Amino acid sequence: MDLFEYQARDLFEKHGVPVLAGAVATTPAEAESAAAKIGGKVVVKAQVKVGGRGKAGGVKLAEDAADARLKADAILGMDIKGHIVHKVMIAGAAPIAEEYYLAILLDRSNRTFLVMASVAGGMDIEEVAHKTPEKLAKVPVSSVDGISLAQAKEIVAKGAFPADIADQVADVLLKLWETFQSEDATLVEVNPLVKTSDGRIIALDGKVTLDDNADFRQPDHAELVDLDSTNALEEAAKAKGLNYVKLDNGKVGIIGNGAGLVMSTLDVVAYAGEKFGGVRPANFLDIGGGASAEVMANGLSIILGDPDVKSVFVNVFGGITACDAVANGIVQALELLGPKATKSIVVRLDGNNVIEGRAILNKANHPLVEQAETMDGAASRAAELAAK
Ligand SMILES: Nc1ncnc2c1ncn2[C@@H]1O[C@H](COP(=O)(O)OP(=O)(O)OP(=O)(O)O)[C@@H](O)[C@H]1O
Ligand SMILES: [Mg+2]
Repeated sequence: MDLFEYQARDLFEKHGVPVLAGAVATTPAEAESAAAKIGGKVVVKAQVKVGGRGKAGGVKLAEDAADARLKADAILGMDIKGHIVHKVMIAGAAPIAEEYYLAILLDRSNRTFLVMASVAGGMDIEEVAHKTPEKLAKVPVSSVDGISLAQAKEIVAKGAFPADIADQVADVLLKLWETFQSEDATLVEVNPLVKTSDGRIIALDGKVTLDDNADFRQPDHAELVDLDSTNALEEAAKAKGLNYVKLDNGKVGIIGNGAGLVMSTLDVVAYAGEKFGGVRPANFLDIGGGASAEVMANGLSIILGDPDVKSVFVNVFGGITACDAVANGIVQALELLGPKATKSIVVRLDGNNVIEGRAILNKANHPLVEQAETMDGAASRAAELAAK
């Protein structure tokens, strides 16, 4: 999960990383009163989970509270690279003398953590990394040992930070490491880390990505989820332990077993749908290996609850879980759902015990269920039904 800047700011503050006071506003009036509380010049910053906000006009200096209101009015509702701005953060305007860069991230290809540090921070860090990589120090960090004070000082020296602030930067790096480790982050980035004209070091912008795999031991992270942008069906599916992703502009609900099969089912349905005016798959849903009746019922109820879905394609290749078990699952699922099952369901079974599986569905003879022999045939029929 990526965090908004204001959420990163809060985590930094919790772990002692020096930050400015910040307040979130969703209206120009809120921005004005937040700016009045902070006092003096402020910056108004778009809160979107995408880089390059400053260059897109999403970070503006305001002279006073009244000006903050105008700037917030201009920024709220902006579209920054496809992200609409719903919130702004108001922070005091720092007297910046220099802008640096400091980041800790998970370096997957080298199976380690990596610290990146540079005195050439600010909005053009990507260009620095590209054109003058020697200005960006990269130092691997052991996940077991972490960062010691001595190592932090070495990294700061390697990044060529000026001597008068080296100790302060090393201290910030240790606190960023504490943030990274104790919050189970995969990225903690500060750009810019600034030196103010009076010699203070402050993290002016923060990007944090948290590792969702650690959610079980990070109960506090649940409240960081951006509910405005999460899909209700995806939330419901997640709560039931299902691997579900809603897709845009689709009409055929998809259920399959195994991620690979489901991925190819999406392709086959999109292809078959071209004959019917461009019908597309409405979701990805992998019910996995041991598809019990309950899992099938959960999957079907999520998909039938999607108002975009006009027909459903259940595509199962029987392996360890044989087709007869899956067929029983479908029959029981439809019993469980009763009148909530309202859309045509095309079922394609193949693989282990396919004869028995098909016989079970034939015997149940549910009015909504149709069987197809092949994946292509089933995709075509499901697309046709959705187009009606
Ligand atoms: N509180 C502040 N006071 C003074 N100047 C600021 C403040 N916050 C940001 N700035 C200036 O605005 C620039 C851009 O801000 P920031 O780094 O937050 O956005 P960004 O880098 O464009 O966004 P992103 O990191 O999402 O790409 C900074 O490099 C800094 O010069
Ligand atoms: Mg930045």
